[in-house]
Amino acid sequence: MKNFDVFLSETSSHRPEFLNLIEQTGKVHGELREQLKSESSIWDEKFFLLDKSSTWKSIDHRTKESILISLGKKILQEAYYIESAGMAYSGKMILTSKTKEERQFYCFVAEEEARHLRLLETIGEFKTGPLDVPSFASLIGEIIQESSRKCHFLLIQVLLEGWGLDYYKDLSQSALNENVAKAFKQILKDEIRHHSAGVILFSESSQMSEVEFMEFLKFLERISVMVKIGPYSVCEELFSHIPNPDLKMVRELLFETGAVTQTEKKLNLIRDLLEKVLSEKEMEIITLKKILEPMDIDSMADFLYQSIPGTYLHHPIH
Ligand SMILES: [Fe+2]
Ligand SMILES: [Fe+2]
Repeated sequence: MKNFDVFLSETSSHRPEFLNLIEQTGKVHGELREQLKSESSIWDEKFFLLDKSSTWKSIDHRTKESILISLGKKILQEAYYIESAGMAYSGKMILTSKTKEERQFYCFVAEEEARHLRLLETIGEFKTGPLDVPSFASLIGEIIQESSRKCHFLLIQVLLEGWGLDYYKDLSQSALNENVAKAFKQILKDEIRHHSAGVILFSESSQMSEVEFMEFLKFLERISVMVKIGPYSVCEELFSHIPNPDLKMVRELLFETGAVTQTEKKLNLIRDLLEKVLSEKEMEIITLKKILEPMDIDSMADFLYQSIPGTYLHHPIH
């Protein structure tokens, strides 16, 4: 079943009756929908490990604040699209459930994902054009549309929702804004059950076929590449404020912020999550293919230097 869109546009304000109806429905479900947006940065320099960077220390306070605001917006933008994907995912799982209770469970999940998205809408401003879907969310959308049921449990619920637990906890604990902290804490409470259901349903269903395993590896490789490249957003935002950044500066930032160790930690978390449900043999294949091995600092610096706007690729004269 692929004939549906994972990411949808917003309902036009010319349809006030329908918009009113959804507000009423939210209230019936206990929603308090106050707007809690804030203009200042939500996560500080320590959260992004920038406090250790000499390039960071060299820039003025106003620029720092504007970088932190942009980085915070990117985090919220990604969360917005991940929760949007969550609604489509539960919808698909409702239709393909194998038992009545499974279907009931995914109906609850669908409601929770809709609430998560509406909660985020109260704390942030989002760009919702067709080109505004962040690449990680877009990959999740592809998995939801393309992959088999077995891979759905494994990639979406075991891996990504499991990963989300750690990430949302971090976002909640480090948020400078109390409303944002509360929102992520609330989302986290539900995601724990979504992840547990994935572990149970994956383990209860039949052995993964070779085709399903290969399909899983293909997506795992793409997910891990997004982790392996290191702090892309941080580099993108920081170096957009530095005239002619060079490769040495990128490498220095990675060194000072311990980017390789941070990436290794993230890849190990993915490994721990997969070990919950995969066999030793399957884990061995992942190890042999080096899918969860971090890049060394020079490869990471090269990759980031060539990908971030304002550097090498964008100045062909160099
Ligand atoms: Fe969610
Ligand atoms: Fe979820």
